[in-house]
Amino acid sequence: MANTTMAAAQIFGISRMRQHQAAPTLIMCSNTAKGAEEFSRLINTGCKLVGCGSAVPSLRVTNNDLAKFIDTNDEWISTRTGIRNRRVLSGKENLTDLAIEAAQKALEMAEVDPKDVDLILMCSSSGDDRFGSAPVIQKALGCKHNPLAFDITAACSGFLLGLFSASCYIKAGGFKNVLVVGADAVSRFVDWTDRGSCILFGDAAGAVLVQACDIGEDGLFGFDLHSDGDGKRHLISTFKENETDDASSENPSMTSFPPKSSSYSYLQMNGREIFKFAVRVVPQSIEAALEKAGLAGSNNFDWLLLHQANQRIIDGVATRLEVPSERVISNVANYGNTSAASIPLALDEAVRGGKVQPGHVIAAAGFGAGLTWASAIFRWG
Ligand SMILES: CC(C)(COP(=O)(O)OP(=O)(O)OC[C@H]1O[C@@H](n2cnc3c(N)ncnc32)[C@H](O)[C@@H]1OP(=O)(O)O)[C@@H](O)C(=O)NCCC(=O)NCCS
Repeated sequence: MANTTMAAAQIFGISRMRQHQAAPTLIMCSNTAKGAEEFSRLINTGCKLVGCGSAVPSLRVTNNDLAKFIDTNDEWISTRTGIRNRRVLSGKENLTDLAIEAAQKALEMAEVDPKDVDLILMCSSSGDDRFGSAPVIQKALGCKHNPLAFDITAACSGFLLGLFSASCYIKAGGFKNVLVVGADAVSRFVDWTDRGSCILFGDAAGAVLVQACDIGEDGLFGFDLHSDGDGKRHLISTFKENETDDASSENPSMTSFPPKSSSYSYLQMNGREIFKFAVRVVPQSIEAALEKAGLAGSNNFDWLLLHQANQRIIDGVATRLEVPSERVISNVANYGNTSAASIPLALDEAVRGGKVQPGHVIAAAGFGAGLTWASAIFRWG
């Protein structure tokens, strides 16, 4: 029973160090063979990251390129943000194709056949189709048995919420191979005349393959997840009716029908408030996730991997957590803020570049519109 309680504690994200105090009482309600099988799966299943991949558009836009059409300069942008280049979708490129490429690379690294994928989570707030793109990715990859595929919208926290969802589907739902894709094309809805926001963003896709394993090999150690709708006003792109469109009915009893044509507004951001929010909540959230993982302390993980929004935010959080810069993963200089893609893109580069090795523990955090923020402590490989 002690082992059962410990396994249950891990499933429910309770600290390894405090399992004896906090493990929930599990009551087995079924005495059928099927029930026993499901209970056994629940307490014996872990999950681990076994593959990653990424893809970026071909067009590179430098700070000097931006300075040709807005009042800015390389010095201002790189000093305030650390960003020097970003990639932007152009020509016939689209976001779904980037997501497919990233997912294919993750499957290749994991040596998993597409027919063995049983769930695809596409984390994106700027997909090619408002009804979602995950099923298109599923078809393009050649997942022959029509596995479940759907989209998750949570802006820059999207990838980590996808990772958490993958762990729930594996541990509680019996799924074996889950692709988590983070892909965004914020270039589609930034106002390219607003120098306060357009300089920050770029487009990209990243993916990981999360695989079921024995609980003893479990590589997802702890999560901390939050949102605060009150802060939404600081970073929005809202749906609005076009004021110039006069499609109102001639029937006076139905003056608001049919609805006017509509669209989403450009991204509007209060940069200072978002900056303060990030440096306040992210260290707290990582510390909470480390505590849940039973790994409290800045020396109990190898790498700090934050959503790549701004080098000053990354540095500020690292300083608060007392993590030296050699243990901080950053590629914001090359890609800017790629929203849900930023964490898997940076992870993929760090893995393929040999920085992150199998067995390394990563403390990751995403934050952004919603407001949402999320942290995860996980092992690579
Ligand atoms: C956007 C951000 C870089 C702005 O930096 P800041 O130090 O807060 O700068 P401010 O907005 O206060 O502007 C300071 C001055 O620079 C000017 N400025 C703004 N953008 C500029 C640009 N691209 N180039 C040159 N000058 C610029 C402003 O007009 C202002 O001028 P003023 O003092 O004459 O009025 C910073 O607030 C930030 O990174 N915030 C976090 C945003 C973020 O990460 N969002 C996504 C989260 S998922």
